[in-house]
Amino acid sequence: MSIAHAIRTVGVLGAGQMGTGIALVSALRAKVPVLLYDQSQDQLKKGLAFAEKLLEKDVSKGKIKSEEAKEARARIMPVDSSLGLKGFRDTDMVIEAVSENLPLKQTIFSTLAAELSPDAILASNTSSISITKIAASAIPKGASAASEEGKKSAGRVVGLHFFNPVPVMKLVELISALQTTQDTLDRARSFAVACGKEVTTSNDVPGFVSNALLMPFINEAIMCLEKGTATRDDIDTTLKLGMNHPMGPLQLADFIGLDTCLAIQKTLYEGTSDSKYRPSILLERMVDAGWYGKKSGKGFYDYR
Ligand code: CAA
Repeated sequence: MSIAHAIRTVGVLGAGQMGTGIALVSALRAKVPVLLYDQSQDQLKKGLAFAEKLLEKDVSKGKIKSEEAKEARARIMPVDSSLGLKGFRDTDMVIEAVSENLPLKQTIFSTLAAELSPDAILASNTSSISITKIAASAIPKGASAASEEGKKSAGRVVGLHFFNPVPVMKLVELISALQTTQDTLDRARSFAVACGKEVTTSNDVPGFVSNALLMPFINEAIMCLEKGTATRDDIDTTLKLGMNHPMGPLQLADFIGLDTCLAIQKTLYEGTSDSKYRPSILLERMVDAGWYGKKSGKGFYDYR
């Protein structure tokens, strides 16, 4: 029997491509009011404009009615920048989708735990960072991890890993921290299903299932290029036409963001101490150069 998610309002933190997509499926599919926050007003405006564009496109393709698009757009409300994370105070769940940086996420979860009701779910869309480490940062200052207060606060933290582009990709990976309660897992799963997603579960290991498999594949493709095994186009075409992948691994790396790929690969390498996860030097250098892929206009391909 499925458990009701009981989410009346959801907060989405970060209005980049992932956060905007999560806000959109929450408003359009789960039909819940969404508070969207980004510390950059410019990014927030861009995110809202992108959500509008996607809704208009769905209307023009006859996928949704114009009324549904209007209602979904009206459900997404920007959080006033002066409020910061306090703007999420009355939400029943916050989904964090900021960059892959553990200290940043720890500060955010510590603040959210102090601001929100003890029953609110705190979810991270992280691609590889330990949910257990993030959950530990939700323990109130002065409380121990073993206290009832500490267990309750860390127990509402969960990994809810969406895939890019969020409106198109059918999967959400659900990750349980050591501390996550069954109730949190059930409600988070139920919310992802309401967003129209299929849910798989993974233990909290570096990269979970998805990126423990995908990133070494992308990293190997970059090493092939680095070693001169084949050209960029031949590597991508081999995988597209030989294995029916929608994109070749180098194009996919550009699409995900090379900075994100490197951050995940480093998490795998450092989290396991296994040399098989060593990031490709070419990937490191491209990130050093500011070539982050599609979002920066240059990666393995040129997007200007
Ligand atoms: N946002 C929303 N919708 C988008 C979109 C975006 N950014 N980009 C494309 N779409 C939609 C299009 O509008 C189109 O919709 P319709 O079917 O309604 O027309 C549909 O996706 C197909 O798009 P296109 O016809 O333009 O192009 P395509 O057929 O080449 O598909 C793609 C594009 C869906 C991105 C496809 O190439 C693909 O599936 N690529 C692989 C994506 C992937 O692997 N994502 C996971 C990355 S890993 C991750 O996200 C998690 C992590 O932890 C790193």
